[in-house]
Amino acid sequence: MAERTSNSPTQPSPGLPTPTGDGTVAVWDLLVRVTHWSLALLFVITYLTEDWQALHQGAGYAILGLVGVRVVWGFVGSTHARFRDFVGSPSAAIAYVRGLADGTAPRSLGHNAAGGWMTLALLMSLVASGITGWSLTRQPGEPAEWLKDLHETAANVTLALVVLHLFGVMASSLRHNENLVNAMIFGRKSRTVEQPTRDKTTGNG
Ligand code: HEM
Ligand code: HEM
Repeated sequence: MAERTSNSPTQPSPGLPTPTGDGTVAVWDLLVRVTHWSLALLFVITYLTEDWQALHQGAGYAILGLVGVRVVWGFVGSTHARFRDFVGSPSAAIAYVRGLADGTAPRSLGHNAAGGWMTLALLMSLVASGITGWSLTRQPGEPAEWLKDLHETAANVTLALVVLHLFGVMASSLRHNENLVNAMIFGRKSRTVEQPTRDKTTGNG
């Protein structure tokens, strides 16, 4: 697993505009934002359109295509779009979640340690939903019951992850006093580094 070197709070993103006079810095490039909001919309559409198969399958294939694009971008995209920027050790992710509760979770310019793993989980779960859905259409006649169940389970696991994702976004936004949804829309975050309100070693606030 790569070291979390470039996701430092103070480091602006090479290849992206430098910080502006308003104290913000570009974090999420256009491709990350467009794929994010398209995936969110398409997930809702596919989840609700089992009975409209043309739309369901079209949206499902679009999800697979977008995830493919996002994965490639995870290797060649701008700094904070890259997997190596935001996939850290599992223990860092656990420490971050604990830190949310006790006020010591560090702020990141890109995805935080837990958000990085959630990103991977969401992308994988979307792929599993899409591939199991596609397999249903490859069967001659009525698809096997177990395959239907697998597809349904993959879709429901994705839904559970999305709910968890939304809680995570809310918790981190509150913890770091910053609007992460706004950042995913406009691509910019404040470059000011906020320290945890309570010092981990002393416990002082
Ligand atoms: C409904 C289905 C959704 C899916 C499948 C989804 C998936 C994802 C993925 C894959 C990422 C990582 C982005 C990347 O690096 O490319 C992400 C990040 C993010 N999502 Fe979602 N998302 C969904 C809904 C939402 C909604 C409704 C909101 C806002 C209310 C939201 C807010 C965010 C934010 C703020 C981030 C960045 C988190 C951070 O700063 O680390 N997402 N989401
Ligand atoms: C990628 C995101 C996808 C999501 C979130 C999703 C979600 C769902 C859900 C929730 C159901 C209803 C399951 C049930 O209650 O029985 C369903 C059914 C179905 N999906 Fe998908 N799906 C996706 C992609 C696809 C794709 C790409 C295809 C085919 C190309 C597909 C084909 C089907 C079929 C044929 C059914 C009906 C299965 C049955 O007869 O019970 N899905 N899907």
